[in-house]
Amino acid sequence: MTPPSTQPTANNLEAFFMPFTANRQFKKNPRLLAKAKGVHYWTPEGRKVIDGTAGLWCVNAGHGREEIKAAIMKQLDEMDYAPSFQMGHPKSFELAARHAAMLPGDLNHAFYCNSGSEAVDSALKIALAYQRARGEGTRTRLIGRERGYHGVGFGGISVGGMVNNRKWFGAMLPGVDHLPHTHDLKRNAFSRGEPQHGVELADELERIVGLHDASNIAAVIVEPCAGSTGYLPPPKGYLKRLREICDKYGILLIFDEVITGFGRLGTGFAAEYFGVIPDLMTVAKGISNATVPMGGVFVRKHIYDGLMNGPENAVELFHGYTYSAHPLACAAASAVLDIYRDEGLFQRSAELSKYWEDGVHSLKGAGGVTDIRNLGLAAGIDLEVRNNAPGARGYDTFVKAFELGLMVRAAGDCIAMSPPLVIEKGQIDEIIEITGKAIKATA
Ligand SMILES: Cc1ncc(COP(=O)(O)O)c(C=O)c1O
Repeated sequence: MTPPSTQPTANNLEAFFMPFTANRQFKKNPRLLAKAKGVHYWTPEGRKVIDGTAGLWCVNAGHGREEIKAAIMKQLDEMDYAPSFQMGHPKSFELAARHAAMLPGDLNHAFYCNSGSEAVDSALKIALAYQRARGEGTRTRLIGRERGYHGVGFGGISVGGMVNNRKWFGAMLPGVDHLPHTHDLKRNAFSRGEPQHGVELADELERIVGLHDASNIAAVIVEPCAGSTGYLPPPKGYLKRLREICDKYGILLIFDEVITGFGRLGTGFAAEYFGVIPDLMTVAKGISNATVPMGGVFVRKHIYDGLMNGPENAVELFHGYTYSAHPLACAAASAVLDIYRDEGLFQRSAELSKYWEDGVHSLKGAGGVTDIRNLGLAAGIDLEVRNNAPGARGYDTFVKAFELGLMVRAAGDCIAMSPPLVIEKGQIDEIIEITGKAIKATA
């Protein structure tokens, strides 16, 4: 028998079915990254590319951190894997205690998973289970928001409000409503920080309560700053108002902090930045600096306590993942917390945010720019749609920036940027300069 050929096929990029990618377009003109250190990537040919997006909003402490590598290697030597079902390992308890200590308010219990999508589906399930455990089992409806992104699980795409994430996959979860999005170009274009107008959009929750009755509604989930649909900071007072309405009706408030968590806004979490404590908070990305996949749901004391009833030998939350609190992820996440603390990276992010704001807003005249918005170390820049082809200019701008040595994200015709928190001012200048050139080139 002839052994299978090990020769590369004509196009050896073929076998990988790439996520969230135009596969055929990419494989004709690939963009490969082969090495990373600090705030830079290198292509296989050795071309240096500055990372304007912290990978995918996740490498907050910069690439190639030796401390994280050492912690992972040590853990691998000690113990590669241990289950967290009916068993435990010390690092998971240590990590949860550390997270609890740094979280605002009484958010003091941590459930671990492996991604933001899993965190969101876990949070929605915890919310439903909690409502049932406290005798409010009719509260099954979930409320998300238009232009929200909560990952790709069926729960996440159901409460999410991204049309392309929804249109392919059937009926989704029943019993889901959406608040309107908060992007209001007429009143808020070129806002610096939180937009002035739109607090009243939170009152839409009252309308939904009026339609379904609060006794049927379990939870509301929002990103404090919507990220994946083009970075939309909330209008001033909006999140406080949502909190008030949720309290009035016994509805749980979930903040999806997969992007905002771990320093993006210059505080540990957006909850601190806005002074609003959600009942549940989802995290991922910066939790482990993206070295080992990890996600989590942080819950307030009343949520955890509310589920700790019934017979003591009964599983209180019938939910978990084989890799929940994976030892390597816990080791990485703990080492990352050391870096955040020792290097004061959240503070650093706060200190750089004004410089960043001035930089991104200087791009207003770069050519066909319809909006720029920022909060913390992140920004979104909307570009005019070209020739009735939505997304084409955003994509071309992203490709042009990459050719010029910068990685940004294109969300339709919006360019989103979120550099690692270790970025230097001079490197911010470089990001702004290349972004300006790329925008000009596609105007
Ligand atoms: C707010 C938010 N929630 C959830 C997710 C999903 O995370 P993951 O891709 O790790 O599943 C993302 C990813 O970008 C996100 O931005």
